[in-house]
Amino acid sequence: MYKSGRQRYEKGGNVIYYPSKVKIEADGEIFEVVLRKALMCDVKALYNLFSEYSKAGEMLPRSMSDIYEHLRDFYIAEIEHFDEEDSSEIIGACALTIVWENLAEIRSLAVKRPYTRKLIGTELIAKCIEEARFFKITRIFALTYKPQFFQKSGFKIIDKSELPHKIWSDCINCVKFPDCDETAVMLEFDKFDGVI
Ligand SMILES: CC(C)(COP(=O)(O)OP(=O)(O)OC[C@H]1O[C@@H](n2cnc3c(N)ncnc32)[C@H](O)[C@@H]1OP(=O)(O)O)[C@@H](O)C(=O)NCCC(=O)NCCS
Repeated sequence: MYKSGRQRYEKGGNVIYYPSKVKIEADGEIFEVVLRKALMCDVKALYNLFSEYSKAGEMLPRSMSDIYEHLRDFYIAEIEHFDEEDSSEIIGACALTIVWENLAEIRSLAVKRPYTRKLIGTELIAKCIEEARFFKITRIFALTYKPQFFQKSGFKIIDKSELPHKIWSDCINCVKFPDCDETAVMLEFDKFDGVI
């Protein structure tokens, strides 16, 4: 048990805020992917990533102001291109938003093509789960068009009526309101941190 919030942060802070790395293979090349919290300089790239998929109807859109307001919620996946400019590229993102007592939501999960199906989405979800556990949040849900993806990470399909009314107040701004066609999925931990 931690004696103070500060002690808890020092013990677990690195887990959340320290970048981690994974290697993937795409188009015959090996890339090192850095997973880290989003920074101010990432906002435009996040906006473009979500716009591309929302135009195709695969996810809900997010405005620039919405991304700025929730920037602290986001993790990003980034690769470096060792070209003339030594540029880096954001290839994925995912947000964990605390919505209610002991309840957080995974939002705006996206991985750029051609980097999909290389476990980047799974790694981003794992980061969000770590962060939720750091905050001692034991229930994480998502509203999604891809429930099979979440099931692979241990989420279970639930009835939307199991979610508190509070979360529906955020839906009023959704283009699909009130005809939500997403599936609700939930991941719950018990007090020993095991998946229920
Ligand atoms: C959904 C998405 C985030 C998945 O990211 P990803 O990095 O490709 O996923 P992973 O490689 O970690 O997938 C792990 C497993 O989840 C399942 N899965 C992944 N994408 C899936 C999809 N589109 N449909 C169904 N199952 C999927 C598969 O079982 C996969 O394992 P496999 O490749 O061995 O079969 C990505 O395809 C994406 O950005 N899609 C467009 C935007 C979107 O739909 N976002 C989700 C909104 S909630």
